[in-house]
Amino acid sequence: MNYDKKTVRDIDVTGKKILLRCDFNVPHDKKTGVIHDDTRIVSTLPTIRYLLEQGAAVILLSHMGRPHGEWQQEMSLFSARDHLERLLGRPVPLTQDVLGPDTKAKCAALQPGELLLVENLRFRIEEEKNDPDFAKELASLADLFVFDAFGAAHRAHASTAGVAEYLPSVAGLLVEKELAFLGKALDDPKRPLVAILGGAKVADKIGVINSLLHKADTIIIGGGMSYTFQVAQGGRIGASLLDEDHIVYAREMIAKAQELGVKLLLPVDNVATAEFSAEAEGQVVPSMSIPVGLMGMDIGPETVKLFTQAIQGAATVFWNGPMGVFEFPNFAAGTNAVAKALAQQKEAVTIVGGGDSVSAIEKTGYGQNISHVSTGGGAALEFLEGLELPAIACLADRGETP
Ligand code: 3PG
Repeated sequence: MNYDKKTVRDIDVTGKKILLRCDFNVPHDKKTGVIHDDTRIVSTLPTIRYLLEQGAAVILLSHMGRPHGEWQQEMSLFSARDHLERLLGRPVPLTQDVLGPDTKAKCAALQPGELLLVENLRFRIEEEKNDPDFAKELASLADLFVFDAFGAAHRAHASTAGVAEYLPSVAGLLVEKELAFLGKALDDPKRPLVAILGGAKVADKIGVINSLLHKADTIIIGGGMSYTFQVAQGGRIGASLLDEDHIVYAREMIAKAQELGVKLLLPVDNVATAEFSAEAEGQVVPSMSIPVGLMGMDIGPETVKLFTQAIQGAATVFWNGPMGVFEFPNFAAGTNAVAKALAQQKEAVTIVGGGDSVSAIEKTGYGQNISHVSTGGGAALEFLEGLELPAIACLADRGETP
C-alpha cells in the first residue's frame, strides 16, 4: 500500500466545505458522558485547527460505539462534542439527526471558519453497509473529503471509504503521522529495530508477528501470550494462560526467528499468584517452571532487566500489548518498566500501537515521551499485518490529482 498520500496541506481548502471524518469513538461513561481517554479527540485537533485557520467550513463526522442503525442516546456524540468545545474554546453545534433536515440545513448554512459535528453516523444503518446512495448524499454536503479517523481506517463504511467515490479525498494530519510512523518508520527502520509484543491472545497477534519477523532485529514477547511460547519450548506454566490451539504456531515461529536470524526474547521470570485477583500476593518464579497452581500475572525483575537492555540498544522500538495484568497496580510493574525504558530512549524512534498498550502507556504517564502513540487499535494491527486499509487506499496519492 502506498503510504505517501496527499494531505490537507497539498490542496487549496480556503472557502471550501469539508467533510472531515474523525474517530471520536472514545471510552466514556455512558451515563455522565465523562471521557476517560481523549487521545483520539486531541490527536485530531491539528487538522481541525489547520482547516479552520485556512478558512474552510468544517463538517465533522464520526461514529461512536456500535448502535447498528438504532438511535441510542448513550452513544450520542454529545460528550465528544462537549469535550471538543472545551479543547477548542469555541462552540461546536451538534446536529439533531444524521443526514436528515437538521443536518442538511446546518451544513448548507455553514460559513468559512465555522465548525459543525454530525451525530453518530452509525445511527443510520446505511453507514456500516456502505450504502452508495447514503455515501453520495453525504458527499453532496461538501466540496472535499478529509480522512483523519485512523482508528476506523480498516472499516469500509460510507463515511470512511464510500464518500471518497464522490469527492476529492485527502488525508488529515493525524493520518499522515500514523502512516509515517507505522508505515515508513517500520518498513525502512533505523536499526536495530526491537519489537515488543504482549497482550493475552496469540491468535490476535499472528499476522503482526509474521510481518515483524521480516522487519525486526529483535522480537520480545511478554504478557499473557508468552506462556504459550514457554510451553512450545517445553516449559511448565502452572495455571497460567495457555492458548493450546497455537502451541504449534509458537514453535514454528521460534524456528522461523532462528532461521531469519531474528533474536527472540521471552521472559525468564514471572510474578505469579494463586488466584486472579488485584489483591493477590505475587511471588517471583522461573518462567520455564511455574509451580502447579500458580499463574503468571506479570514479568519478573530479571525479565525487566533483560527487556530494558534490549530496548536500550534499539534505534527504533515498536511496542504493542501489555506485559501483564497492568489493570491491577500490583502487576503493572513490568508494563510500567517497558513504558519507562521506551520513554528514556530519547534518540530512538519509539512507536506504541494498538488498544491496550495505548491505555497502558497513558496510564504510566510516559506517553509524552514517545515519538508516536497510535490512535488505531484494530486498524493499527491490520496495517502492521500489511493488509490494505480501505479508508486509506481510497485517498489520493501524492502527485495524483485528488
Ligand atoms: C475502534 O475503536 O477501534 C474504532 O473506532 C473502530 O470501531 P469499530 O471496531 O466499532 O469499527
